[in-house]
Formats: sequence, structure tokens, C-alpha cells
Amino acid sequence: MTKHALKNIPRHVAIIMDGNGRWANVRGLPRSMGHRKGVEAVREAVRTAAELGVEYLTLFAFSSENWSRPESEVSDLMGLLKTFVRRDLQTLHKENVRIRVIGDRSNLRSDILPLLLEAEERTRDNTAITLVIAFNYGARDEIARAVRSIAGDVAAGILHPAEVTPECISARLDTADIPDPDLIIRTSGEERLSNFLLWQAAYAELMFIPDFWPDFSRETFHDALRNYAGRERRFGGVTAAAPTLAVGS
Ligand code: IPE
Ligand code: IPE
Ligand code: MG
Repeated sequence: MTKHALKNIPRHVAIIMDGNGRWANVRGLPRSMGHRKGVEAVREAVRTAAELGVEYLTLFAFSSENWSRPESEVSDLMGLLKTFVRRDLQTLHKENVRIRVIGDRSNLRSDILPLLLEAEERTRDNTAITLVIAFNYGARDEIARAVRSIAGDVAAGILHPAEVTPECISARLDTADIPDPDLIIRTSGEERLSNFLLWQAAYAELMFIPDFWPDFSRETFHDALRNYAGRERRFGGVTAAAPTLAVGS
């Protein structure tokens, strides 16, 4: 399908890639296999989003709560992230993909942080699509960090409390220069946000699809955008109603 076959392409799509473990479970495979397969779905999703003309694709890769998983699974996921960045950076760069990472960087392992920084640095001028990787990300943590930074400036007298507006808060989040998501998709049938982009999701369209993440294909992505195109976003306003004949005239 060509880039223009679908109408009303969302500018920013954010995905909660869920269900890797269950994908593996139903096949009698270890959870790690589901994560491995999930990386293939990531590659396809990035390509499809770029083809469709999506400007920003945010992928929830690892939450600040995912550290509570068994150590072996955490280390598996870290390993996969490292391999993905090492192996795919060259290709993504060639495909003109700009990489951004959101989430708390302060305590990241010394073998992970430099990789993420390098990916951002090398691809910073690319223009095909921005791939936002949410890693060690939790919305409440992100908001708390923003509030701490605002509180610091207020205490220092640099910022007046009256200047603490929604825009001021947005500007202190990890997503400061990224538009709010238009569409948030969660795979695997779970219908919750699990601490993902809580502030930015204020007017996002939500879509919960039954497929496990490793099964998320080009077609699934196209179907999701077709569904999105049929939705009406009102942002608290009213619909531009179709003209009707005035009664009694
Ligand atoms: C999503 O799949 C991947 C991450 C959270 C990193 P899960 O690992 O959560 O898979 P399920 O939800 O247990 O099936
Ligand atoms: C959300 O999925 C986090 C990611 C997809 C990275 P989880 O599997 O961690 O969410 P819960 O625990 O089911 O809410
Ligand atoms: Mg899950």
C-alpha cells in the first residue's frame, strides 16, 4: 500500500507492546523467545510507520516497573535492547530514522546508557520518522522529575508559581519537543495504560487490540490506522454538524 492510501494519518502513534510472554507461552516456548520475536515486530512497525507517513512512533520497551520481573528476564530484555541498538542502528540511520529515548537515564547501566546516547547523537538530523524509545520509562516518575525541576526553579526564584502552566509542565517532561500522541495502541487485549504517557495521553485516541505484540504486522498497523481515520476527535469542543433544514422555515 502506498503512503497516501490511508487518510488522516496520525502524526504520533504510541504503542504499548504487550503480550510477548503470552505469545511464547501458548507455543510452549520460554518467555525470552517471545521477546526475541517481539524485536522483529518492532523492525516491521518502524518501517510501516515511516511508509505510512507517521512522524513520531513511540514504543514502550521497558517500564520503570519492569525491574520487578525475575532477574533473568530483566537481563534478557537488557541484552535484547543492546543487540537491537548495536545491530539496527546502522540500518535505521540509513533509513533516515531519528532516534529519541525517553525515561529516567540517571541510574542506567554503564553498558546501556552510552549506546542510547550514541543512537540519539548519530541520528539526530534524520528526518524520515522519529522513533521514540520509552526505556526505563514511567509516566509518574517522569512527572515527578518535571515537578522537582520546577520546584527547584521556583525555590531559586527563577520561576514564579504563576508561570507553572500546563505548557510549562509539558516543556519539562521527557517528551518536551515531541507532540502529544494522537493514537495509543496496546496489544494483547489488556485495556490499561500501565503508567505510559499519562500526561501526554490527555486527548489521545485509545485502541486495544487482541493480538500479542509478536503478531503485530503491517496489516495490523494498517487496520489500526483505518480505524483511527474513522474516529472523530473533539478536544472538548463540538462537532461541525452536517447542515440540516431549519424547522418551521
Ligand atoms: C511486553 O510483553 C514486553 C515488555 C513488557 C518488555 P510482556 O513481557 O509483558 O508479555 P506478557 O504481558 O507477559 O504476555
Ligand atoms: C507495559 O506492559 C510495559 C511495556 C510494554 C514495556 P506490562 O506487561 O509491564 O504491563 P502490566 O504489568 O501488564 O500492566
Ligand atoms: Mg505484559
